[in-house]
Amino acid sequence: MRKVYKKISGFIIMTMIIICGFWYIEGNTSNYGSNDKDKLFEVNTANGSEKILLVNEKHGLSGNYVPEGLSIPNIPFSNGSDDEEKHVAGTVVKPLEELVNAAKKDGIILLGNSGYRSYKSQEDIYENRVISQGKKLADAYVAKPGFSEHQTGLCIDITNKNGYFAKGTKEADWLAKNCYRFGFIIRYPYGKKSVTGIEYEPWHIRYVGKEAAKYIHDNGITLEEYLQK
Ligand code: DAL
Ligand code: ZN
Repeated sequence: MRKVYKKISGFIIMTMIIICGFWYIEGNTSNYGSNDKDKLFEVNTANGSEKILLVNEKHGLSGNYVPEGLSIPNIPFSNGSDDEEKHVAGTVVKPLEELVNAAKKDGIILLGNSGYRSYKSQEDIYENRVISQGKKLADAYVAKPGFSEHQTGLCIDITNKNGYFAKGTKEADWLAKNCYRFGFIIRYPYGKKSVTGIEYEPWHIRYVGKEAAKYIHDNGITLEEYLQK
C-alpha cells in the first residue's frame, strides 16, 4: 500500500513540475505578459482586420513586456539619446527610416531622440521629473512606469538640431503634416488631454500602420477615439 502512495505522490509531483515548467517557459518567451494581450484592440481594415496595441493611463503593460525585434534604425539621433532609447520595435524600423529620408529630401532634418524605454528606464525618468518639476507637471508629460507607450517600442520622440521641437518649427510642422503617410500619428495632439491623458507633444509619434494613421489624420482624432469608432 505504501508503495502505491509513493508512486501516486511521485506522479503528482512530476506532473506539477512539468506544468510549472511549461507555465514558466510561456511567461518568459512570450513578449506579452498574461495581462498584456487585452491591450490589443481589433479594428476592421480594408483587407480584414488588424490588432493595435493601446497603452495609456488606463491600459498598462506588465514590467517584463519587451517588444519584438528591437533594433536601431538607420537614422540620425540627438546627442542625448542613450543606446536603449535608440531602439524601436522591428515593425517600426523601415517606416521610420522612410519617414526620416523623405523629410531629408524636403530639406528637413529630423533626429531620433527617445524610442524604446524599459519599465525601469521609464521609472527613472518619471521619478527624476517629479523631483525636478513636481508631480503635476510630471504627470502632464511623462507616463508612469508601465503606462508609457515608449515601453511598446512603437513610438519615438523626434527632435531637431536645436533640440527645440515645438509647433511652428519647420520640423514639427513637416512631421505633423506628413507622418501619417508612413503609418505614424502625432499621438498626443493639441487640446486632447482629456482623451489621451497627456498634454500636446508634437514630437511623439506612434506607429499604427498606414490605414489607421490616414484615418486618424484625416479625421483629426486620437488613437483612443479611433479604437472606439
Ligand atoms: N511622454 C510620454 C507620454 C511618455 O512618457 O510615455
Ligand atoms: Zn514620447
